[in-house]
Amino acid sequence: MSDRFASPVLQPVKLGGLQLKNRIVMAPMTRSRADDAGVQPDYVADYYAQRASTGLIVTEATNISAQARGYTRTPGIWTEAQIAAWKRVTEAVHRQDGKIFLQLWHTGRMSHPDMHDGSLPVAPSAIKPHGQIRVHEGMKDFVTPRALETDEIPLIVEDYRRAAENAKVAGFDGVEVHSANNYLLEQFVRDSTNLRTDRYGGSLENRLRFPLEVVKAVIDVWGADRVGIRISPVTTTPGETPLDSNTMATFGAYVAALSDLGLLYIHEIEGVTQLSREEVNGVNFAELRQRFSGAYIANNQYTLDLAEQTLAAGDADLFSIGRPFIANPDLIYRLASGAPLAEAPKAYWYGGDATGYSDWPAMG
Ligand SMILES: Cc1cc2nc3c(=O)[nH]c(=O)nc-3n(C[C@H](O)[C@H](O)[C@H](O)COP(=O)(O)O)c2cc1C
Repeated sequence: MSDRFASPVLQPVKLGGLQLKNRIVMAPMTRSRADDAGVQPDYVADYYAQRASTGLIVTEATNISAQARGYTRTPGIWTEAQIAAWKRVTEAVHRQDGKIFLQLWHTGRMSHPDMHDGSLPVAPSAIKPHGQIRVHEGMKDFVTPRALETDEIPLIVEDYRRAAENAKVAGFDGVEVHSANNYLLEQFVRDSTNLRTDRYGGSLENRLRFPLEVVKAVIDVWGADRVGIRISPVTTTPGETPLDSNTMATFGAYVAALSDLGLLYIHEIEGVTQLSREEVNGVNFAELRQRFSGAYIANNQYTLDLAEQTLAAGDADLFSIGRPFIANPDLIYRLASGAPLAEAPKAYWYGGDATGYSDWPAMG
């Protein structure tokens, strides 16, 4: 076993005004343990607290409203019961001296009528995603969503504002706006999923209008130094083709506008989420990073070696790791000591109970 406790990646660091234990972030991961009312069970507090040795935890994506829901058993932050359940989580993480941000989510077209009493999911435009979604009765084909009316869009901005306020009541240290993986915000940003002709579509400036209104509303509640955002310029989900006719121009402008707002960090999925780290469609991660004045959290298939190389090259500030956290609550210790990593069978990723979730042992 190697001794890498002195690794620069594992040393304490400041993120804005927050003191973190190290440069590793637990990436947001949907684990689908909430009940049908979007309330987290008690053992969710154990799960997050067990992982509090990481510098920062970003929670699983959390629905800002009933309309935001896409997948079965995902948590929410719009009811009193949901807030109370999250409060148990933040208190448990803080008892371990950890830091935790809530990821704010609206799935948009990545949803299904089964999640909305038979009504259609909403989206910038009526364009059906490829593939299937996990709803109460298992996997079902996506449907063509309903295009939002112009006057509905400011109401969603207000839903984000309320969700951000509720996150504060629940005791989080900050929030991350989920603008990745082709959920609602990214559906507005991309020119293949936004064919609107009102002020929220058409030109790049118009396509960025709604996401930036959301970010500003969340900043009103938290201050820019407690708000991050997640983006995934290269990701093609839910298809195989690029979602954008000029990805770098789109995301270059987006990142520059986010930088002007003084946001705490951008959290970039480098490549196709979980699958590859390739810089395709003209995307250049380093260049995007240079357009942003705050911190840069890099994600996708990071190991300690790759994080060390990237940090030494000055190409990222923090590194988020997802899948290895599922079966290794003490991942930080295992990375430092070179101890072997446990592997979680995929059957435990989504759904079920505490088994394969909050019962993974730490090393002795
Ligand atoms: C089970 C699972 C659930 C995920 N849920 C989310 C989520 O809720 N929000 C999000 O932004 N990304 C989500 N992701 C993507 C991860 O945050 C991360 O980008 C991806 O796993 C690549 O990082 P890794 O190679 O370190 O696992 C999920 C990934 C997995 C495996």
